[in-house]
Amino acid sequence: MQPIESIEAMRRQVRDWHVAGLTVGFVPTMGNLHGGHLSLVDEAMARSDRVVVSIFVNPAQFGPGEDYETYPRTRESDLALLEDRGVHCVFLPSVAAMYPEGGLLRTRVEVPAFNGMLCDLSRPGFFNGVALVVTKLFNIVRPDLAVFGLKDYQQFLVVQRLARDLDLPIEIIGAAVAREPDGLAMSSRNVYLGESERARAPVLYQTLCALADRLRAGNTDLAGLRREAMEALSAATMKPDYVEIRRAGDLGEPGPGDQDLVVAGAAYLGRARLIDNVRVNRPPID
Ligand code: PAJ
Repeated sequence: MQPIESIEAMRRQVRDWHVAGLTVGFVPTMGNLHGGHLSLVDEAMARSDRVVVSIFVNPAQFGPGEDYETYPRTRESDLALLEDRGVHCVFLPSVAAMYPEGGLLRTRVEVPAFNGMLCDLSRPGFFNGVALVVTKLFNIVRPDLAVFGLKDYQQFLVVQRLARDLDLPIEIIGAAVAREPDGLAMSSRNVYLGESERARAPVLYQTLCALADRLRAGNTDLAGLRREAMEALSAATMKPDYVEIRRAGDLGEPGPGDQDLVVAGAAYLGRARLIDNVRVNRPPID
């Protein structure tokens, strides 16, 4: 497995593979890899001849006061995990290479369709930072397909929309949420949880599942369901950020005819902000 740090060398590697007729799958990450990342890698390995994983803690997607400085950076153990998985190449660009001139980029990438809702409200600018770095990474790596986790559901939709709107010739694949045995969605930020917080953390997933069950059973009081879920999170001494019931395709407010929904939630627990979601196909409303 080859670690590559320069943008030029990364381009050359993928050009050689494409000339040889090989397909290239790509998994962008910020490192501190866990089972969720590795399930994306497995998906990319199964679907393409060569796989590139990027590790880049992207300053453009962290807000003021967020954890950019302290975000866990575990390069050596990440490389060992990827080597083990049979990954062909790891791309580790420096901040100076991605954001030269002290980060003074003159171009923005924005998918406004998904701003002003869910995670964008508490992390304004986050999705613009993601859209920018993903566009740059796509242009450097030029993969045939890229795998993103459905755990970050709004992010997945942003990337999918971006690829479609800008005619990027890249298939965007969504991979299922990887969970700990007690249901907690795996996340690099779970290391922020203290022992008693870790014990309470599965309540987010349990709460979203309970809400999803009520929808499946035909409950249509969306406002009441959301309120109850927020109360359940508070009762577990989390600070709920949001619980939303939205159309799965575009995160719009569901009308009576919409059956394919996503129940998404976020809550603060100690130093961590947990997010999770559950997909629901509810029965038709008569
Ligand atoms: P990061 O949080 O490192 O996640 C990298 C990828 O792993 C994302 O596609 C994310 O959705 C996926 N992932 C994380 N936890 C998962 C889980 N429990 N189950 C399934 N997939 C999971 O997301 C980012 O980095 C960044 O925003 C990035 C896209 C790399 C742009 O900087």
